[in-house]
Amino acid sequence: MSRWLVTGAGGMLGRDLVEVLGATPGTSVTGLTRGGLDVTDAAAAEAAVAGHDVVVNAAGWTDVDGAESAEAEAARVNGAGPRNLAAACARHGAVLLQLSTDYVFRGDAASPYPEDAPTGPVNAYGRGKLAGERAVRELLPEHGFVVRTAWLYGAHGRNFVNTMLALAGQRETLDVVDDQVGQPTWTRALAVRLAALGGAAVSGRAPAGVYHATASGQVSWCGLARAVFALSGLDPERVRPTTSDRFVRPAPRPSYSVLGHAAWQRAGMAPMADWYAELAAALPVLTPGAAASAPPA
Ligand SMILES: NC(=O)c1ccc[n+]([C@@H]2O[C@H](COP(=O)([O-])OP(=O)(O)OC[C@H]3O[C@@H](n4cnc5c(N)ncnc54)[C@H](OP(=O)(O)O)[C@@H]3O)[C@@H](O)[C@H]2O)c1
Repeated sequence: MSRWLVTGAGGMLGRDLVEVLGATPGTSVTGLTRGGLDVTDAAAAEAAVAGHDVVVNAAGWTDVDGAESAEAEAARVNGAGPRNLAAACARHGAVLLQLSTDYVFRGDAASPYPEDAPTGPVNAYGRGKLAGERAVRELLPEHGFVVRTAWLYGAHGRNFVNTMLALAGQRETLDVVDDQVGQPTWTRALAVRLAALGGAAVSGRAPAGVYHATASGQVSWCGLARAVFALSGLDPERVRPTTSDRFVRPAPRPSYSVLGHAAWQRAGMAPMADWYAELAAALPVLTPGAAASAPPA
């Protein structure tokens, strides 16, 4: 029986993780919400990690725009938090899976970022997450796994997919940016992947290091919105392309957020499924009763 601890268990990913791990044979799971463990508290992290074989840190400061005006606070959660957990895992011999982000990259590439590509975050959130990555790799060279993900959507949080579904009922047309591309990733598929990676790590089949846990393929936000519409039986032409300069936000966003998936081979695993197939599987779960139809042209 491997004993797992999930931090940030009240979040969008954390909730799916606790459900998936709870249904995984040979696994027991403790899920701690922020009320049960504040990861910035080193002593509390030490006590929580004791008695576990695998820790998944799904806690994080995820308000990307808010981080611009509260960088120190965001860095405490996203940098010092993982450092506390990594130090505790080192003392207790546990594996740590640390969630990170495509925002550690500049986002000006023209082909998918390999796991070892140079980093260069363009916003405060990305800088804090990068500090967390570095702490984990420094303190846990043999047992630290940095798992970068991106563009998450799921049943248990506010996200782009459910926002589009809500707006579809309120507006005839929507303008959505078409000049940022990425890999929309379902939290449930990510949770299944994390369960597999942790299992492989504990049994020595997966080497420590950086993994990119995003869906395969790529699409713009506009393309994603159109796919959500089409798969829900709505007219995708109601979504109109626009550019990011029409939606200026406090934190700059990378325009190219496509991650390469070569590291999975080292762990004997295939990359995650294509974003469109994953979205088609997710929508009936996210919106029971919604119609499925053909992909957009
Ligand atoms: N969402 C995305 O598109 C995306 C993309 C790339 C990477 N990620 C990463 O994936 C992970 C999970 O993201 P998510 O979308 O599930 O985020 P989420 O829904 O915002 O969940 C994050 C959770 O962390 C908790 N938290 C915040 N500060 C904490 C602290 N000091 N100690 C303990 N818990 C704390 C939050 O609690 P409160 O709600 O009470 O604050 C929340 O429950 C994060 O590491 C995030 O950086 C997410």
